Amino acid sequence: MRTLVRNIKSLVQVDDVHSTVSGARLAYLPTIENAFLLIEDGRIADYGPLSLAPESADDYIDAKGGYVLPTWCDSHTHLVYAGSRESEFVDRIKGLTYEEISAKGGGILNSAKRLQATSEEALFEQSLPRLHEIVSTGTGAVEVKSGYGLTLEAELKMLRVIRRLKEQSTVSIKATFLGAHSIPMEYRANREAYIDLIVNEMIPAVATGGLADYCDVFCEKGFFTVEESERILETGLKYGLKPKLHANQLSCSGAVQLGVNMKAVSVDHLEQMGDAEIAALKGSTTIPTLLPGSAFFLNNHYPPARQMIDAGLPICLATDMNPGTTPSGNMPITIALACINMKMLPEEAINAATINGAAAMELLESHGTISKGKVASFIITKPMPSLDFLPYAYGSNLIDRVYINGKMI
Ligand code: NIG
Ligand code: FE
Repeated sequence: MRTLVRNIKSLVQVDDVHSTVSGARLAYLPTIENAFLLIEDGRIADYGPLSLAPESADDYIDAKGGYVLPTWCDSHTHLVYAGSRESEFVDRIKGLTYEEISAKGGGILNSAKRLQATSEEALFEQSLPRLHEIVSTGTGAVEVKSGYGLTLEAELKMLRVIRRLKEQSTVSIKATFLGAHSIPMEYRANREAYIDLIVNEMIPAVATGGLADYCDVFCEKGFFTVEESERILETGLKYGLKPKLHANQLSCSGAVQLGVNMKAVSVDHLEQMGDAEIAALKGSTTIPTLLPGSAFFLNNHYPPARQMIDAGLPICLATDMNPGTTPSGNMPITIALACINMKMLPEEAINAATINGAAAMELLESHGTISKGKVASFIITKPMPSLDFLPYAYGSNLIDRVYINGKMI
């Protein structure tokens, strides 16, 4: 079955690269004006200028003069959760900080209490519409974390829900075990015992069940220390779970250096960065992932994206969708925030949200660019005067249609 996409104003991110793009190269987004795209059995079979299009196909898609881009790769979300936390949002408006809310048992522990009391079925029913919503805004591959369970049973429940989402959806989903998201209240006097539980029971059970690809830790003052994070990530590695880290969100904690030393796939957040952190990332394989939606929602510092690009780093953008710090999983808004608040060029932001996001989920062979053999997962935009219009007209829904593996969603 061959499907030909015609009437494309511009085919964006056409590249056979299978690696991250970094530094000055981030500002280059390869495009073909007035293009065609040929799909065969859910994969990209060919593309090029319309003058070279095949004369016929089994089926046709009219792009109606829109831009065509590969779907977004959102490499950091917590989209499985129970209930919501708008009361903490109001508490912050009134002056409390995220840390103060967490310290009195709100924040992650609030979500954990709700999740523990929610059945697996109900958790799935709450999470599925969130997945549908982000796909409608153009996300075609997503990483989803546990971390609102904080007991063996509830962490496994979350990961089984992620597995069920994976089975029921055609988007690519990677799962991350984040049992080290917060220390439960009952372990506050004996945090060592919770870390023992993660290391001795949770990680082995997650690995035995084949429930996760990665292991993540919230390495931060008031959460997990660098030493504790190292112990947890080392254990994850032993069980085949590659490391990722929530790093430097609230302080310069040493988490970036830990991630680099452990060859973490990515270190995420990076609101608090010094020269030493940027130097550590240079020449490493660890992808620095920025989550501007979280900085926006918490009124936090934004990561120094320009400095990191100037240092030649392959920065990646993701949403961080979660009930506490980023209730939105909207990648177009994330891209706009990156342009507005981190001074990233639209081309840089789109590279960071596609090819580098694919790299941060180890999906370079199948996602992140329009390339022969990769999945035919792409976005058709509404007609726009230019690609820059996408982040400029932030909040407008410019995504007309989304195709996953060649099928319209
Ligand atoms: O990435 N920082 C840690 N974890 C989440 C927030 C969790 C929450 O508040 O529920 C984040 O921002
Ligand atoms: Fe997060």
